[in-house]
Amino acid sequence: MKFTKNILCIGAGYVGGPTMAIIALKCPSYKVTVVDVNEERIGRWNSDDLPIYEPGLLDAVRAARGKNLFFSTAIPEGIRAADIIFVSVNTPTKTFGLGAGMASDLQYWEKTAHQIVTYSEKPKIIVEKSTLPVRTAEAMERILSENKKNIHFEVVSNPEFLAEGSAVNDLLEPDRVLIGSQQTESGFKAAREIAAIYAHWVPIEKIITTNLWSAELSKLVANAFLAQRISSINAISALCEKTDADVAEISFAVGSDTRIGFEFINASIGFGGSCFKKDILNLVYICRSYGLNEVADYWEKVVKMNDYQQERFVKKIIKEMFNTIVAKKIVLLGFAFKANTGDTRESPGIYLAKKLLEERAALVICDPQALENARKDLAGLEGEVVYEPDPYRATQAAQAIAVITEWDVFKKLDFEKIFAGMRKPAFVFDGRNILDHRRLFQIGFNVFPLGKPSLTHF
Ligand code: NAD
Ligand code: UGA
Repeated sequence: MKFTKNILCIGAGYVGGPTMAIIALKCPSYKVTVVDVNEERIGRWNSDDLPIYEPGLLDAVRAARGKNLFFSTAIPEGIRAADIIFVSVNTPTKTFGLGAGMASDLQYWEKTAHQIVTYSEKPKIIVEKSTLPVRTAEAMERILSENKKNIHFEVVSNPEFLAEGSAVNDLLEPDRVLIGSQQTESGFKAAREIAAIYAHWVPIEKIITTNLWSAELSKLVANAFLAQRISSINAISALCEKTDADVAEISFAVGSDTRIGFEFINASIGFGGSCFKKDILNLVYICRSYGLNEVADYWEKVVKMNDYQQERFVKKIIKEMFNTIVAKKIVLLGFAFKANTGDTRESPGIYLAKKLLEERAALVICDPQALENARKDLAGLEGEVVYEPDPYRATQAAQAIAVITEWDVFKKLDFEKIFAGMRKPAFVFDGRNILDHRRLFQIGFNVFPLGKPSLTHF
């Protein structure tokens, strides 16, 4: 088949893989190729054992793979053939040198820019899909304009807003698609070309076009706002625990104001995931680099509040279990940073596991999708950790359960059966407020929800 356009995506991760699968599915006349340096990842994208767990993704990949969707490690060939290149490589927080712990590490992004210059033989649109500091496109344009072949590259920002666990649905029905371009004729033309891809399935009024810098910055701001809401309600959860108010009732009462709404005001042990913390710290770093220290301090508090919430949860477990958890078997129900994903990046579960192991508890980690990643996260730590996918086996002879991830399966467990198998007194610390606390208390558990009065038999 003769394809009308060649699209390449560099980076076959949580964003590159699903995004390109949906573009391929919705645009059968385009050839979509996803490349990565990681051979194992590409091998798994070419199998039915995909490298990431995402509901509905395997069906989408299967429907397009081999027809107009291809996964490969042939980066030079991919670059040569492409009309449009999406760059979706990782942009983690820098761990070294200037800006360590705050700034974005742009080494992977810059490497792809050099590869594009080296292998290109014709003009292309380069799409920033990764989340990047505002004004990165300027650096990108400089690198790309260094080419001796006089090839024109137009850089466009098209940040991704999908959330893990709902990626397929978010891509099929996005709230908006954002495309930022230079405010020049070639910039507008490139933005129209990218918009034309999404217009295959996204209503035109949901495709927003802006200048390049607004698009880059909007992505950081969107994540900062979402995380800020979580930190706000988590701050209130601490106050609820002192006053016997109920944070869930507060979320409902406050969220009922349509100006506030219900999304992202569920108290938790803290937000995790690869992006919120990194993107806010990046925003903080950018503000500081412009001398905007008050603005930086304001946003930094969102991350500090998140750290505080995680610390609070650990301290509560230790305190309520009579100030010692040495050799006590504690089950973490869930390890993924949220439900419906196997991703554990920045999961509060990692922090919690480390702290409980330092206190010499015996840990059991139970998660339907994240045990492979949990093993990697906790590798090399001193202490006893068992990985058990079955919640009933996991809780046998345990002293406490801590809910880390809001998986639906945990809500439906037979807690009478679980209680019968546990050592007494048995504790539940519900870091997600997903369980029926009153019922658990009636069964015999001592229950410690988040931001609600505790229910104990002492
Ligand atoms: P990821 O780590 O899952 O995937 C990135 C991939 O890029 C890796 O497989 C890596 O091997 C590959 N890569 C790195 N350098 C390369 C190179 N030079 N050539 C070829 N491949 C290379 O990351 P991700 O979660 O997909 O995130 C990618 C970007 O998207 C980040 O900037 C992130 O902030 C942003 N983002 C992520 C999400 C999310 O839900 N994970 C959502 C929106 C935006
Ligand atoms: C988030 C954003 O929602 C996406 O729009 C964005 O594209 C993405 O980051 C990104 O840039 O990577 P994601 O991290 O996948 O998506 O998942 P969220 O649903 O946002 O959850 C993030 C964390 O907040 C999870 O740990 C979740 O459990 C927690 N959370 C969420 C709460 O604690 N309370 C809430 O009310 C909502």
